[in-house]
Amino acid sequence: MSTLTALPTVVLTREQIQFFQREGYLVLDSVVPPEEVERMREIYDKLFASKAGRAQGEFFDLGGTDEEGKAEALPQMMNPSRYAPEIAVGQFRANAAAIARQLLGQHAEFKQDFAICKPPGSAVPTPWHQDNAYLDPKFDHNNINIWIPLQPANLENGCLHFVPRTHLSGDILPHHSINNDPRIEGLECDQVDLAKAVAAPIPPGGATIHHTRTLHYAGPNNSKNPRRAYILEFEAPPIKRSVPHDFYWQKARQTSRNRRYATIGARTRNTLYRIAKKAKKLVKS
Ligand code: NI
Repeated sequence: MSTLTALPTVVLTREQIQFFQREGYLVLDSVVPPEEVERMREIYDKLFASKAGRAQGEFFDLGGTDEEGKAEALPQMMNPSRYAPEIAVGQFRANAAAIARQLLGQHAEFKQDFAICKPPGSAVPTPWHQDNAYLDPKFDHNNINIWIPLQPANLENGCLHFVPRTHLSGDILPHHSINNDPRIEGLECDQVDLAKAVAAPIPPGGATIHHTRTLHYAGPNNSKNPRRAYILEFEAPPIKRSVPHDFYWQKARQTSRNRRYATIGARTRNTLYRIAKKAKKLVKS
């Protein structure tokens, strides 16, 4: 039996669905009830304070070399709901699942959650990229990321920016590791035409949604508070390609995150896999 009993309180209009399909992103002002934002923020801060999942490579520095004992430029956590399942429970989950089905079709499924916390005063932007550049090149991925800030997201603290309509081509643009440093996990698109870029500020409780082929960026955090983003990824069934994409930038990377993952042993990896499967079931409606 599903543990997700809430009915969605958000229904996209035909205009919103058409806007997303044409432009590759969507801005919504109200997806998460205010009390849930507060509750999630508490759980989120504890998870980041404890660097949950670091030993397994699930907590890492997206924007730096990720050395032991060094402060992260851009701390990222994969699968926070593995470490604190309560972060995944709430009205917002029903809303996110319903939005995903409206945008990707009835076969849309929750794939994973992740979180990027930009420290106060961090001068490091999240560079322009397409999320698909991180994914398995053997497939064409038709995914969305629902990006939920746990405080206002604005130009001062690093809201998302998009280049509209960049999702329309099935080809993924060339990417490279940030600073061309293969030790850094984060990827940057080689060339971006910024003339058409748009910023997407949102209040707490809002969300931006983008196709994982849409070029996007988040600025530095010039505020005095962390810029917390919690992200839910949903996917339509991926399509196996006859010829894989050539994502040569993935082969070049040598991150300490991957080294940590490789050293944990098959038993821990199996446990992680089981927990992930359970978390996936939890959010299925
Ligand atoms: Ni991204």
